[in-house]
Amino acid sequence: MAEYGIKVGGSSVSSARNIDIVADLIVKQYLSNPADNINVVVSAIGKDPAGTRTEKVTDMLLDLAKLILEKKSPKKNALAVEKKLTETSGVHTDIIHHLHIDYRTADYPLSNLGLAVADAMSKIKRKENINPYQIKDALAAMGELSSTPIVAAVVQHKLEKKWESLETKLAKEKMLRPEEQAVLNRLRAANGVYAHVVDSRHAGFITDSNFTKATLLDSSLDTEIARHHASLRAQYPHSILMYSGFVGRDIEGNTTTIGRDGSNTTKTALAVAANEQAITIYSDTDGVLLVNPKIVPNSQTARSLDYIETVLLAKFGGMKVLEEAGLYPLIRAKKYIPITVKNTFNPDDPGTLITHEAPPSVPTMKGLGILHDMHYREFAVQDPRAFQQLERTLASYKGVNILKSTLESNGAKKIGKFVFAADRKLEKRHGAEYFAGALTDRIIKNVFGGQAPKSFHHSAGSLVTIVGRELGNSHKDMSRVYDILSKANGGGTDTNTHKLPVWTTPDSIHLYMDQGTTNNVVNMLYNKLKKINVVLYGLGNIGPAFLQKAIENYDELGITVTGIVDSSGGYAKIGGFTTHDLEAIIAAKKGKTSLKEAAESSLVEGGIYLAPEAAKNFRNLRDFCKGDTVLVDATSESSMIHRLAYALHLGAKVISVNKAPYAVEKDNGHAKRQIPQLFEALLENRLFNRGTVGADIGVPGKLLDILIKNPAYVTVRGCSSGTLGYTTTLIEEGKPLSDGVQGAIAEGFTEPNPYKDFSGNDVLNKMVVLWRTIATKYGLDPFDIKVSHESYLAPAIRKYEELTGKPFETSDLSGLTKTAFVERMKMLDGPFKALQKGLPEGYVLRYVGEISYDEATKKYSISVGMREVHKTNSLGSLKGPDNRILFGINSSPDDLQDFASGKGAGIVETANAIMRDLKEIVSMARGEYGGRKIGYVKRPLSERPTHLPMVNWHRPSQKATALMGYSQFLK
Ligand SMILES: NC(=O)c1ccc[n+]([C@@H]2O[C@H](COP(=O)([O-])OP(=O)(O)OC[C@H]3O[C@@H](n4cnc5c(N)ncnc54)[C@H](OP(=O)(O)O)[C@@H]3O)[C@@H](O)[C@H]2O)c1
Repeated sequence: MAEYGIKVGGSSVSSARNIDIVADLIVKQYLSNPADNINVVVSAIGKDPAGTRTEKVTDMLLDLAKLILEKKSPKKNALAVEKKLTETSGVHTDIIHHLHIDYRTADYPLSNLGLAVADAMSKIKRKENINPYQIKDALAAMGELSSTPIVAAVVQHKLEKKWESLETKLAKEKMLRPEEQAVLNRLRAANGVYAHVVDSRHAGFITDSNFTKATLLDSSLDTEIARHHASLRAQYPHSILMYSGFVGRDIEGNTTTIGRDGSNTTKTALAVAANEQAITIYSDTDGVLLVNPKIVPNSQTARSLDYIETVLLAKFGGMKVLEEAGLYPLIRAKKYIPITVKNTFNPDDPGTLITHEAPPSVPTMKGLGILHDMHYREFAVQDPRAFQQLERTLASYKGVNILKSTLESNGAKKIGKFVFAADRKLEKRHGAEYFAGALTDRIIKNVFGGQAPKSFHHSAGSLVTIVGRELGNSHKDMSRVYDILSKANGGGTDTNTHKLPVWTTPDSIHLYMDQGTTNNVVNMLYNKLKKINVVLYGLGNIGPAFLQKAIENYDELGITVTGIVDSSGGYAKIGGFTTHDLEAIIAAKKGKTSLKEAAESSLVEGGIYLAPEAAKNFRNLRDFCKGDTVLVDATSESSMIHRLAYALHLGAKVISVNKAPYAVEKDNGHAKRQIPQLFEALLENRLFNRGTVGADIGVPGKLLDILIKNPAYVTVRGCSSGTLGYTTTLIEEGKPLSDGVQGAIAEGFTEPNPYKDFSGNDVLNKMVVLWRTIATKYGLDPFDIKVSHESYLAPAIRKYEELTGKPFETSDLSGLTKTAFVERMKMLDGPFKALQKGLPEGYVLRYVGEISYDEATKKYSISVGMREVHKTNSLGSLKGPDNRILFGINSSPDDLQDFASGKGAGIVETANAIMRDLKEIVSMARGEYGGRKIGYVKRPLSERPTHLPMVNWHRPSQKATALMGYSQFLK
């Protein structure tokens, strides 16, 4: 049987309700796989901010010890002790009462607490020589020794109920489902003992006698705990073993507490001894937050940490989940068991995975720590010997913990610089001058023989530490940090942080600064160094091209691709894919390997596969790397509208090159709600769709720039299809239509289904995207517009029918494969040639999309179709896949006021468009750019003005009566 570990932190057992929640999680894991065994380590009851108790039970017990040790009159003392004892016991009995469990559950440890108190009091009365630390331990240990049986009783109760219900069901129905039968078998095997309480003092947790700061003995770590555990497992092969964290005993049998990272040490020592496969630590945040949310609200979570990062964070004021001492048993035994830190109150969140790993390919900030009460000293010294003496004097001063000392030479001048942490308690006791004045006096006396040095300087401040493997060696990150420091303080003042000490280790960057600037600097550092996560839907032509560009910009932009989805499902990785992972995925996909197959062959270490249904839920992918996330849509599915709307709802940003979701009709699912949401997000810099019209030439952005100026109305006219432009040019050069179609497919200009281009639907959709942007600006109904639409092929089809007298079959065109489509187009080669011939002198054919505005009726309309255009006209002179979109501002586009022009299709160009949008999002996330401020009329859809009835633009008529000549104004 495989063994698994759980550690339940103080916040998860702080109230009856929380104990009930965490007990459910333990039960769930126990029942999820009957072949696994579970060992739980429980902490003492923590603070209950939701209730009224602001003190942890351990602190209450230490207060109790303090009262016992106080040298007051025995009578007064006894009363105060009695009161505190009742209060502390009351916390437990209250919880037991609310949990409706047997009072005897905690009776034994609580009466032990009473005995420990009575024992200590009588020793004091008899004036026996007692060790106060020993008394503290005897009492503090009661926290864990009392909470463990309570949690165990709740787990026991839940499993008894489960057993009962399954037995009843079996008796009634004579058969259980196989998974239910497996659970029942396990419960029967446990023989009524589902949760067995283990007092760690009697389970091999032997420590030295360094009371309150005890350390487990090597023999305990190497053999004793394992021996006891093996024997307990033999006795209770199917029970959950519930160990009390933090406590141990010395070889004389006295109770001790493991001073540093106590319950975690109990857990990791037990994990090694029991050969556990994995550990889950239950806490009250979604894993390890990058920075204290009091300073940066909505801080991201580090989805993965390695041991070094974890320890550095704990040491330098970041989130403390495990300290060096807590990891020591694993490191000593070289058993690098993965640890997941999860939120008891949000167990679906994947939390943070802590592993023992090699440094990543791209350095990533994994957290920011802040330590206040720091001091900085500078002294001019004569020589290195004086510097050493200075260092020794400082180090010997009580409460000083030197973090950095350097001797710097400035010409002949030598300056010793020190950053040290000051023990706040001492300052409280001895006054604010303890570390400032008194320490300086002592140094002047000891090191400088009573004569103040030529120059010296001291200041109190804070130390901000940025943690991340190899971050200290990353020139790019260091230059970002210096950039922030110089911006943060503007120069000229004594808070000019970049003149204050900054130093690095390979895995950390340390910045000493004035306390007043800390929050500001931490916010800036966080914004500049945090990763922006990307979830990509669609891995056809555009998706891999975008990934290639993402790889090139990974470090520069600070982005991480965390999940990728194709039609076979999703592939994701906790902490995100490395650039190597992405290269492997691109290569696999090029070789026609789906993501599902890639996952099945474990293409990426640590990669996790999500079935298509699960991958549809954006949240499932986002959570692999929670934080600022961008959804990139490079599919051609209109159903992506749901994912886009949900991502926006979750606060993510969206980038689209897929225009289908923006063009859905009113009766499509939740379009009535989602279309306004999407376009409002576009105007609010939450959604970016540069690539949906004209690949990378910037059409949507140009329109937004125009709308910012609040014109009365905007009109649009243009050739917006790379495919149709390319084909038209070839026809003009005398080549057949089918060659043009084939060439456009080969160049990657066409939509996945080429009929989407040749039907004109693609151009129409682009006009709809632009129109709905305009409609949203003016508060118009985005679904209500008159559309006239004719396909690119329509004039040639009419010609074909005229020439042959036979109908041309169009109903199956949209279902043809690319090859079959090219083949069918051969039938129209001749008719296209005939059309060319029939054009008036100086005119060419152009497929034009237009959004017009009728000033008389104040109504917009869209028209899309083949037009005769003079070849000197700005649309007539277009060549190949180039697009040109003309904008009229308070006028028709004839009075050309603005335009976007260039290659409007292509794989590289479209991938570039995604990158450009992504760069905009990144610079906004880093606080470098505020985005466009476009005011718009916000009103519910039902109150938006209606216009002329809409025609169904998805079924273009192939039978329009005549070519519309626009030549009269396209001179
Ligand atoms: N080519 C251009 O010049 C250009 C210009 C501007 C915009 N665009 C747009 O870019 C988009 C992508 O074009 P493309 O040529 O790369 O298309 P594509 O080759 O057909 O790729 C589409 C991708 O979407 C995936 N997919 C399909 N259904 C999915 C679903 N339900 N969930 C997640 N993924 C799904 C497909 O998976 P499989 O791989 O498993 O089939 C494929 O990877 C299109 O919307 C297109 O209009 C293209």
